[in-house]
Parts: sequence; structure tokens; C-alpha cells
Amino acid sequence: MTEADLQTHRTDVAAELRADVRAGLTAEQKWLPPKWFYDAEGSALFEKITALPEYYPTRSEREVLAARAAEIAVLTGARTLVELGSGSSEKTRLLLGALTAHGTLEAFVPMDVSESALAEATAAISADYPGLDVRGVVGDFTRHLRLLPGSAPRVVAFLGGTIGNFLPAERAAFLHSVREVLAEGEWLLLGTDLVKDPETLERAYDDAAGVTAAFNRNVLRVINAQLGADFDPDAFDHVAHWDAGQEWIEMRLRAQRDITVRIPGAGLVVEFAAGEHIRTEVSAKFRPDGIAAELAAAGFAVVRRWTDAQRRFGVSLARSLHA
Ligand code: AVJ
Repeated sequence: MTEADLQTHRTDVAAELRADVRAGLTAEQKWLPPKWFYDAEGSALFEKITALPEYYPTRSEREVLAARAAEIAVLTGARTLVELGSGSSEKTRLLLGALTAHGTLEAFVPMDVSESALAEATAAISADYPGLDVRGVVGDFTRHLRLLPGSAPRVVAFLGGTIGNFLPAERAAFLHSVREVLAEGEWLLLGTDLVKDPETLERAYDDAAGVTAAFNRNVLRVINAQLGADFDPDAFDHVAHWDAGQEWIEMRLRAQRDITVRIPGAGLVVEFAAGEHIRTEVSAKFRPDGIAAELAAAGFAVVRRWTDAQRRFGVSLARSLHA
């Protein structure tokens, strides 16, 4: 008998996707939000990415968490661990282990848009941490944050560098909204990929085995399945481009030729000229002082910041300064 339960705050998935597809694919510069990568297939592809030799962020962040989890437990004395965009929650086990050993932890609240990934993770974690109250929340953490359960002090963990998938204005709004749901003295644990040489960055997003390319094209399969579209994913090239001005990796899908796509579920017919692309993701990379400044602007004070030995990835522990 496990304690896991799953709450769903998603309303109408097809309606949300339809709105995003209409906005993004009728724009002058076509774009799609990255959250639509993550159906069951996309979540499985992302898990494969995290094990690729070129994709260092997962390993670098795990190194930091393994070294610092006990310190995080002592500093925060968390009773609730909330994890946003938890995926498989694999790295979270490092935190759960330390917080359980410290003796303060009562509840784990993973929140993710992928119901399949969340269901697996909550079942596995309930089985491995008997007595822990595990409450999965299926939802979009840009919209459903207010609904997070659990007693204070809470640590909200936002790991993997996923904050880099927001545009700068969205990022500021998101950090502000996290701070608003927290009481004074509660915590944010934020993982951020760091600026480094462009070759390392571009290889991490364009691996030799083509897993990231399949992950990128998966968004077109999701639109086909949900909205009855007739995208041929193989007619689009995967592109990973380092934008040195913005300091982000931009993933694109570039039409190999002139293509017409019907998307009946969105009432659209979309034309692509040869070479035209859809921007499917930005993955911003950070500098330590920039992170601290953005957190301060949202009402957080950085209490500790750590990196892996190669200084590839940063983890910041920040405290809410407001009630
Ligand atoms: C979701 C932030 C962990 O931006 O690095 C991996 C997603 N995209 N490869 C990232 C991703 C392409 C990823 N995170």
C-alpha cells in the first residue's frame, strides 16, 4: 500500500495546444512552446538525452546535488520538498535521501506536465520512501503554482536548467510567482546551466546519435496526434544554434523544402518556405552574478551557490525575503 496520489489541474490539453499552435505558427517568425515536447515518447527521449555523452548538464547538476544535499537539508530544515518539472525525479532522490536522514521531511510534491512521467515517479518514490506523503500534481507550473500543498518550510526545487527554457520576461514573471506562493523564509533551489564555450554547448544540443533531433521533431508528432495535423517530421532538419548575444541555445526545426501542413484541429493551413524554421526551444545559459541579480529582483536572497568541479552548471539556494 503506497501513499501516492495524483492531482490533475490540466483543463483541456487539446484546447491549450490549439491556442499555442495558432499563436506560434501564424507568427511572422514561427515558434512553438517547449512544453509540448513532453508526451510519453518525448519524456522517454528526454531521459535518453540525459544519458548522452554530449549532454553534460544532468551529470554536472547531479555532482553538485550529491555533494551538497546534506548541507541543503541542514540549512533549510525542509518539511516539504516541491519539485517543479520533475520528470522522472531521479536527481530528487539525492535530496529526498538527505532530507529524510535529517529527519524533517514529511511530504514530497512533484509537479509536471507529463502525467506518464509523474505517475511512474510518484509510484517509485512512494515505494522507496515509506511514510513520506507523496502528492503528484499534473499541471503547468507557470499557471498552477498556487495549488501546491505541503507545510512550511518548503523547498521548491527547480532543477535541470529548465528555467533557461523561459524567455527573459517570462523568467522574471515566473520567479516572482514562485516567491509569491512562498512565505518569508521558505526556499528556492534553482539549477542553472552556465555560459561556456559554444562548441560544448552546441554539441550538447546536437548529439551524434540524433536523440536530440528526434526529441525536437517529436513536437510535430504531438501536434499530429492531438490536432490531426499532417506534419512529416522527417521533412524538417534539427538545428541547435548558440546565440551569443542572448546567451542561449536555440533549437529549431528547419523545412527542407516548401511544405504545406494541414492542422484541422487548429483550423489552420500553414505554409513553410524552404529553409524557413520554427523556433521550438530556447535554453538560456547563465552567469553567476546574473542569477543572483534576477533572484534579488524577484524578492529572493541567494544564501549559497555551488558549481560542479568543471564549473559547467550552477545550483543556487535562495530564501524568500517577503511574506
Ligand atoms: C528541460 C532544460 C533540461 O534545455 O537543456 C535537452 C531540455 N532540450 N535537450 C534543456 C533539452 C534539448 C533541457 N531542459
